[in-house]
Amino acid sequence: MLNIVVCVSGGGTNLQAIIDGVKNRTIQNTKIAGVISNNVSAYALKRAEAEGIPALCVSPGKFENRDEFNDAFLSEIDKLNPDLIVLAGFLVIIPQKMIEKYRDRIINIHPSLIPSFCGTGFYGLKVHEEALKRGVKITGATVHYVDEGTDTGRIILQKAVEVLEGDTPQILQRRVMEQAEWIILPQAINEIAAGYRE
Ligand code: GRF
Repeated sequence: MLNIVVCVSGGGTNLQAIIDGVKNRTIQNTKIAGVISNNVSAYALKRAEAEGIPALCVSPGKFENRDEFNDAFLSEIDKLNPDLIVLAGFLVIIPQKMIEKYRDRIINIHPSLIPSFCGTGFYGLKVHEEALKRGVKITGATVHYVDEGTDTGRIILQKAVEVLEGDTPQILQRRVMEQAEWIILPQAINEIAAGYRE
């Protein structure tokens, strides 16, 4: 059984796709051990609570400095004993010691076809604003391993999505979520759980 911890910061639609995938068995051999957010008002926490999944907030504002937050965050992760950590719209820099401790066991969903529209400052709507500004006809989403860089780890899965005439950043974001993110993130977890991927 693959024990996963999902880290969230916002609405949690990617978390919901994982929850639904475990329930409808498109994700097999996997247990969501817990959900952790940096944001106490993240709706994602309510999604976890509704399923009886342990949900907690580790808020940077509650700590004297970033190092103390990092230690508390890593300690809560360790307590859940994850085989895999899934960053699903998590907007906090992962501490170096966590990357080392969980090398090749942390994955992230990014709402573009990396290496386009990624790296520092490229998150949420900004990614889609830049794609529309550049005039790309195809965008999509990427699941990748997390390493020391920003969106630089080994790519696991990608799925392309058409950009349509008249798209706004919000419309495009929703299409990328529906047609790519909510499909490839559960698929990547299922493949890792099945041992297809190290
Ligand atoms: C998604 O667009 C995801 O690609 C990005 O942050 C957003 C999170 O959405 N990383 P949600 O919290 O999963 O609804």
